[in-house]
Amino acid sequence: MLVNIFGSRRQYFYFCLAAGATITCLLNLALFTNIEKHTIQIPGLGEFLIPYNHAPGHYAKDNHPIQLLMEEADHQWQKYERSHSTNFRDVVAKYRKTNGRHPPPGFKEWYLFARKNKVYDVDNFQQIYDDLRPFWAIPPAEIRKMAASLQESKGIAGIRVRDHQVVSDPNGWRAETLSHSIERIAKYLPDMDIAMNTLDQPRVMATYEDIQGYLKIEARNKTMFEFPVDKFTPDMGYLYSENNSASIDPAWFSVAGKPYMEFAQESCPPNSPARNDNITTEEIEKLYKTPVGGFIANFTGSSDLCTVGPVLGDQHGFLFSASSNIITRKLLPVFGECKVSVNNDILFPANMYFLKDPRYVFNPRHDYSWDYKDDSLLWRGVTSGGIQVEDNWQRLHRQRFVHMTNATEMNSQSVSILSQDMEHRYQPMDFQPAEFATSYFDVGFTEAWGCIPDCSFYNNVWTYKKPKDFSEQFRAKYLVDIDGHSFSGRWRAFHQSKSLGLKATIFREWHDSRLLAWRHFVPMDNMYGDLYSLMTYFIGVNSSQPNAPHDAISPGPSIPSHDFEARVIATQSREWAQLALRDEDLEIYLYLLLLEYGRIIDDNRDVLGYAGDGSELAEFDVSYQLTSPL
Ligand SMILES: *[C@@H]1O[C@H](CO)[C@@H](O)[C@H](O)[C@H]1NC(C)=O
Ligand SMILES: *[C@@H]1O[C@H](CO)[C@@H](O)[C@H](O)[C@H]1NC(C)=O
Ligand SMILES: *[C@@H]1O[C@H](CO)[C@@H](O)[C@H](O)[C@H]1NC(C)=O
Ligand SMILES: *[C@@H]1O[C@H](CO)[C@@H](O)[C@H](O)[C@H]1NC(C)=O
Ligand SMILES: *[C@@H]1O[C@H](CO)[C@@H](O)[C@H](O)[C@H]1NC(C)=O
Ligand SMILES: *[C@@H]1O[C@H](CO)[C@@H](O)[C@H](O)[C@H]1NC(C)=O
Repeated sequence: MLVNIFGSRRQYFYFCLAAGATITCLLNLALFTNIEKHTIQIPGLGEFLIPYNHAPGHYAKDNHPIQLLMEEADHQWQKYERSHSTNFRDVVAKYRKTNGRHPPPGFKEWYLFARKNKVYDVDNFQQIYDDLRPFWAIPPAEIRKMAASLQESKGIAGIRVRDHQVVSDPNGWRAETLSHSIERIAKYLPDMDIAMNTLDQPRVMATYEDIQGYLKIEARNKTMFEFPVDKFTPDMGYLYSENNSASIDPAWFSVAGKPYMEFAQESCPPNSPARNDNITTEEIEKLYKTPVGGFIANFTGSSDLCTVGPVLGDQHGFLFSASSNIITRKLLPVFGECKVSVNNDILFPANMYFLKDPRYVFNPRHDYSWDYKDDSLLWRGVTSGGIQVEDNWQRLHRQRFVHMTNATEMNSQSVSILSQDMEHRYQPMDFQPAEFATSYFDVGFTEAWGCIPDCSFYNNVWTYKKPKDFSEQFRAKYLVDIDGHSFSGRWRAFHQSKSLGLKATIFREWHDSRLLAWRHFVPMDNMYGDLYSLMTYFIGVNSSQPNAPHDAISPGPSIPSHDFEARVIATQSREWAQLALRDEDLEIYLYLLLLEYGRIIDDNRDVLGYAGDGSELAEFDVSYQLTSPL
């Protein structure tokens, strides 16, 4: 039996890729589905199931691993689409099935709000439940005490809702932005103290053992009370007040400039690469890359520090040269804009997305049709990502990227890409990328920043390029998004545009569970070893223009252009962003997040919830669908 030989479907999938035996494998995979139970997974959460019931795709078949990855993403997507609810009754039923709890109090009002704001995907907010789950093990009064005490903590802004108003004075642009967002929905919320991180980097990193303990309690305590109360409890104690001196030690400590993985590994499973000294880079890469071509097969895995930490530990600025990084091991309720896989911060849609900052906001007036865009890969940025000194900058992620795309630097180097042989099969081949980089890459720093004692050591290293307005950037078909000090605020706009986004990151954001690699964007490894394979696949390489020196005997690589595939992903991404990454979606997410938070800090949380079966909105749902544009 196949299952016994390969042990797991993933191994079997890799075998298929390696063998290039797509058709046979796909047929066999149909068998798997009958023997294994499928659970509906949210795109992006990392499940990477084998394609089955595989419908003919809409792009040319040429057995490239990327083709299989796109087909797999398509298949995942179709499953996701099929599971999507169109009425309140389904949403409620799915909520109970997924979470083992009633929806929170006020859920019906939230649903009406979401519908009136033309929500499309109304039932997948997995990130919220995942972020809050461990807090179910902490008594509600304890969470309130922590949040109250954090109101005046270092690197935290306090935002307080009392009697359906935001009553705190915001301090700084982040607190101001979140306060305004919350003001718009405060009438639906119970009293609460929110502790918002004001630093760029995430703050909470409980140990693996602690989190496992919390999750066990959470699972054991899950209940669906028979007659839930659809109303938050008023007048609970331990909320912040100026005269309240009760304080909890948040136990912050700084890990700035220290090897992050030394701390992070304690938040990783004991058998993970991060806690296993003997594992090699090759063994680690097998866990998230295709064996042929080295493309990202599991995007969540590629940014999971417990997996990639040993590889990236000294190759990403956040992990060894962070400018500020103040964390705690206590499970504190801190709301943050981003985190890495080992953190327990509660994610909310980043404040940057609520601002109308022209550096980050997409304006459809300034976009171009695909055919008018240039065949080029564009990136601009400053030298952020970590404190730079003369002998560490070569290991920072942005610097590595700018280096790898620099034709002069790559002049004497070769990289491995996938090229077609005489039978049009893809095989790894050495490639000298300098000419390709010259023709198709437009990458560079706009200024140096964050160096000690100053940035003069860069004098002969970079040629600074002119910054490009957002509007100008969309001239390029291919837009790269890599981390800075933390997550990158451009990513939403890249999705909204008609260009194709390539993403390498270690950070997680609110929207990750709605974005599916190879369907909505092209995932790139944080070491960029796949950069030239990706770009030669999309742009193509002409074999009669040998890329090797002119006296080379063997012909250069030959790869047909996959412009169409690039355009397909760019289009899917844009259409999805118009449905699921709208301004309204930020608000809908925040609203549900705060309802859930409101319940988790409520002393009666076990008996609170929406009691009905959703049928009372049947008429609304019908009339909504009659008027809905969808
Ligand atoms: C678990 O549930 C019991 C019974 O409802 C409750 O008394 C207890 O406080 C709960 N524990 C936590 C950590 O919420
Ligand atoms: C704090 O105490 C002062 C002096 O007793 C009082 O005037 C004020 O109303 C109190 N503030 C709050 C929020 O309770
Ligand atoms: C690493 O390998 C050595 C020798 O094979 C073994 O003794 C040791 O226990 C291994 N360490 C870990 C963490 O697996
Ligand atoms: C993908 O990676 C995530 C994070 O490391 C892991 O939890 C998940 O099991 C992986 N999926 C597969 C199918 O290997
Ligand atoms: C590319 O590398 C060369 C040689 O190190 C350097 O002189 C040049 O400024 C670099 N170009 C960019 C855009 O940074
Ligand atoms: C490939 O390069 C040759 C020589 O420069 C040129 O004649 C030919 O048109 C090119 N083919 C494509 C498809 O670009």
